[in-house]
Parts: sequence; structure tokens; C-alpha cells
Amino acid sequence: MGHPFDPGYVPEPFQSLCEDYPEAAVYPPGQFRLEWGPIFHRGRLDGSARILVIGQDPAQHETIVRRILVGEAGQRVQGFLAKLGITRSYVFINAYLYSVYGSVKAKTRKNPALIEYRNRWLEALLVGRQIEAVLALGQAADEAWQFWSATAVGQSVEVAYAAVTHPTQPESSSKGDKAKLLAATTKLLQNWNAALQTLSPHIQHPDAPTPLVFYGESWADGDRVGIPEFDFPAGLPAWMHEQDGWAKRAGANNLAKRRNITLTVPKGIVT
Ligand code: URA
Repeated sequence: MGHPFDPGYVPEPFQSLCEDYPEAAVYPPGQFRLEWGPIFHRGRLDGSARILVIGQDPAQHETIVRRILVGEAGQRVQGFLAKLGITRSYVFINAYLYSVYGSVKAKTRKNPALIEYRNRWLEALLVGRQIEAVLALGQAADEAWQFWSATAVGQSVEVAYAAVTHPTQPESSSKGDKAKLLAATTKLLQNWNAALQTLSPHIQHPDAPTPLVFYGESWADGDRVGIPEFDFPAGLPAWMHEQDGWAKRAGANNLAKRRNITLTVPKGIVT
């Protein structure tokens, strides 16, 4: 069927949300890479989503393709959704619109304007829709959910919820130490198994009903699932959505690294 693609932000309220987004007054440039613009979502905006995933912030691949969680972290989460039988009916947003630079100060995280804009997305995706479960990846996502849940509108929405360890936490916490990476991966997979147990009874309308198979102690074949072409904007070359590692922040110092993302077509594509 040719090359299916994501039509983007046509239906309201998503069009208005993408026309009018917070900038430097809310996302300080010392804490976020505003220079690459906001990146909003991935997945279904047409009301067909059954599970909402909240991630943290976009990285370099997301910056280029303008959809979130499209790299290694995204493939791990795609595998988690597949275990629940969800292969299409999902939608992802991040806690932050822009890529984090360094760390985010408490004052920024708690800025009512930042929370209010994110809550407009949550309201658009949850109120009067058919989401059955919400999955938060990491602390910023869990905090986003707690802020939303404390609102009157948030309290009016009943949905199953699980907060899990962020998919690439094992890599970021182990800093190249292989033994630490193995231990952190086992711990993450145990944590994800608990979330599967919590959420699976609430997934009443899977796309591809499947017996629940838990993770083992390390990543196994099939635990990572590719991001479907229909999640990406039209006309993206296959290598951009079939693999990652093709976009790197490059430069001799921090400023140069903020200003550059180098794209390299993977080996074997150009012959
Ligand atoms: N990790 C996230 O949490 N979000 C992204 O968009 C990419 C990586």
C-alpha cells in the first residue's frame, strides 16, 4: 500500500496547540535546546488511541524527523506496547517539548505555564476519548501525570496508570560499565514486567490480541520493535525510520554541539 504516513496536526485542538506553543519565557534556553524547535508527539491523534505514553524529552533523531521516541528508547517502548497487543492504537507525548540541555530546574518544572500547556495536550488526548491505559517513562513523565491528575479535569478521567523506569536509564546510569548495564537492564525489565501486569487487564481493545509474555533478565529478540512508517511525516527515507545512529550532535565544544546535528546515511544505502 505504498508509503503510509502520519498526516500531522490537522484536527483541532492539535492544530491550535501546534500554532501556539510555549517558547523561551517558559522553556529557558539554558535548560532546553530551543534552537531546534518543539517536537510534539507520535501516534494517533484521531481518537483511535487506546494507550497514551508520556516520555521525557526529544533527542537528535526526534529533532530531525519531528516525531518523538523514534530511536532506541522508542523501539523498546514499541516492544512493550506489542506485548499488550497494541501495534497502532497508541499516542505519545513528552513531558517537555524541547530537548533538555543539562538539567531542568525545579522552578521550570513547576512553572504553571509549562504545566498548563502540557495539560491542554493531556485533556485533548484523554477527555471524551477511549484511552484505556497511560504509561509514564521516567520521573519527569510521572511528575507530569501527577500534575495533571491533581486538576479537576484530570480527576474526571479514569484510566489505568503505570510509571516505569525510562527505557534508556540503564545506559545513562551505567556510563559504559558493562556489569552495571546488565544489572540495571535486569532491574528495568523487572520493573516493566510489573507494569505489564498492572496494565494488561485494562487493555480491552488490543489491535493484535496476544498472550502476555514477560521480559527475561536481558533484552531478547523481539523485545525491540521497529517504529511503523505510518508514524512518520510523508516522504521520509526508509533508513531514517528503520534504524537510528544516523544523527549525532557534533562539535569541538558545547556551543558547537548545540549548533550541529550531523546526519550520515548508513552504510549500504548508497552503493
Ligand atoms: N526519550 C524520551 O523520553 N523521549 C523522546 O522523544 C526520545 C527519547
